[in-house]
Amino acid sequence: DVPAVELNSGTSIPQLGLGVWQATNDETERAVLSAIDDAGYRHIDTAAAYGNEEGVGRALAATSVAREDLYVTTKLWNADQGFEPAQAAFNKSLSLLGLDYVDLYLIHWPLQNDDRLLRTWDALEKIAESGRAKAIGVCNFEPHHLQLLVDKGGTLPAVDQVELHPHLPQHAIREVAGRHGIAVESWSPLGGTSNSGWGKASKPNTLLSDPVIAGIGERHGKSPAQVLIRWHLQSGLIVIPKSVNPDRIAQNIDVFDFTLSDADLQEIATLDDGVRVGIHPDEMNMGAPE
Ligand code: A2P
Repeated sequence: DVPAVELNSGTSIPQLGLGVWQATNDETERAVLSAIDDAGYRHIDTAAAYGNEEGVGRALAATSVAREDLYVTTKLWNADQGFEPAQAAFNKSLSLLGLDYVDLYLIHWPLQNDDRLLRTWDALEKIAESGRAKAIGVCNFEPHHLQLLVDKGGTLPAVDQVELHPHLPQHAIREVAGRHGIAVESWSPLGGTSNSGWGKASKPNTLLSDPVIAGIGERHGKSPAQVLIRWHLQSGLIVIPKSVNPDRIAQNIDVFDFTLSDADLQEIATLDDGVRVGIHPDEMNMGAPE
């Protein structure tokens, strides 16, 4: 069974979920239904910017698993930052999802305007107070962004979802987040897709074909993806591997019958070279309001 991670919001999140970035509405609907009904996932991670909240919503309407047993995350797109725009965008996401609440609502990127970011956080706090988001959090926040919210003195984010995998283990962010009880979620946990650049030149995924990861997999009779997912879980991270393929969706949750040894973990630690697949958050300003 997928363990639950307690959040500082007082709610808990399944430690493994399904990511649906770069999937169409139809692909997403099929992937989410297969994940929930066939593979046993209970946690789905989408975003307004993925353009597939409607597909997630159709799957949630079709499954027989009860809403209270599912965990749904969506994210506020850059263009909608600000107090009023964030609330309008949240309402639109809820309506596309066909839900009356989400479990987690995240700011997708910090952008480069701290005043607007703080007003956006005010909007998320208001949404949380209304009960329509059971927890609120952020994505792609560097330590200096987290510090802004710590200094503000209101609700702390329940999570910070960042690019994180063995090439980019994000020790600094994990240290700061840990000090404030903020859980860390890994995006592109398998090392990403060949075009996960958000405006950057695309790069091939090297982790799924990495000999170190493959060798560890062979020792355990597990695939490279399963080794990577296990690494996130044993590192105390929340992990949301993306797949639209039913076999890989099932494979990615079949990770609770083996354990990476300390030697395995030490070998994986040698892969830390700081190489990202996505853009650095301090450079991201795509779609930012005027
Ligand atoms: P697909 O959707 O066709 O399965 P990340 O989560 O790091 O962004 O990586 C997702 C990428 O890895 C997608 O291209 C996805 O493709 C692929 N993928 C997901 N699960 C597996 C797996 N178990 N084995 C190989 N590739 C996988």
